Amino acid sequence: NWSIPAFIEQKTLEIRELVKDGHVICALSGGVDSSVVTALLAHILKDQFTPIFVDHGLLRKDEALDVQNTFKRDFETNLITVDAKDRFFAKLKGISDPEQKRKIIGNEFIKVFEEQIKNFKDAKYLAQGTLYTDVIESGTKTAQTIKSHHNVGGLPKNMKLILIEPLNTLFKDEVRDLGIRLGLPESIVNRQPFPGPGLAIRILGDITPDKIRIVQESDFILREEIKNHGLDKSIWQYFTVLTPLKTVGVMGDNRTYDYVLVIRAVTSIDGMTADFAQIPYETLQKISNRMTNEVKGINRVVYDITSKPPGTIEWE
Ligand code: XMP
Repeated sequence: NWSIPAFIEQKTLEIRELVKDGHVICALSGGVDSSVVTALLAHILKDQFTPIFVDHGLLRKDEALDVQNTFKRDFETNLITVDAKDRFFAKLKGISDPEQKRKIIGNEFIKVFEEQIKNFKDAKYLAQGTLYTDVIESGTKTAQTIKSHHNVGGLPKNMKLILIEPLNTLFKDEVRDLGIRLGLPESIVNRQPFPGPGLAIRILGDITPDKIRIVQESDFILREEIKNHGLDKSIWQYFTVLTPLKTVGVMGDNRTYDYVLVIRAVTSIDGMTADFAQIPYETLQKISNRMTNEVKGINRVVYDITSKPPGTIEWE
């Protein structure tokens, strides 16, 4: 029987006993699992714990700021934010292949993280937000998992740190309950899944700062409207994808030639299969109007009506 206070008490004893006066670090991505681990360890270890957040510049609009506000200002952790935008961007310049993007981001993340670890010579432990389902699923990769999932937060292979995985007996809904109990906001605890490589795999083709702006701004509008229309609880994932296609449009008396943007929204239980979400036409109309009016560089918005299979949830 799952009791959150008993769980917290047991983990406090276990981790205190293990760590003693040592120091623990973790890679915070801002996702549900790493956020809950961070909140739990901050609660147990206070100053003996440092979360490290690598900002690769491919996060959603305002996301880096949200992470800092939550964990530095509200939770008062020792959070270290590494601004690695330029590094990631330089490595990704001119790269169009999806798997190559994933590989570059995964490798660069490990490099940045390893450099940070060097500043913590006294750190002996690394905490990770591995869940029970991650434990049982590793080793049973099916055809559904056809993309290499470089989850940002993946471990450097030859690291000498001892791994702590305090959530590895919990299911996702239990992790969410724990997060709420520890004082995390709903916006983090009920967050939709977000891929480690971030917006890099939502920009088809090569990545430029202007394309990042387009996906960030359009994704922001989509999230706002989905929430305003009360659909945020029922849709599993919703986001925009920027295609490399340009089409002709009209604005006032002028011809435009701008990008095609895709809205992707799916319902799902676990991400393995999915159906396109049946968003009402009026909502789609509002979203499309706002995007074409407010986001410079696109003049056409299309809605993806493909289920998984045969489509995947992401476009890359
Ligand atoms: P697909 O596109 O394969 O996505 O139907 C299934 C789920 O996995 C997420 N996804 C990723 N997550 N690194 C991640 O951490 C990745 O490279 C990656 N690719 C897809 C996707 O957002 C969906 O939730």
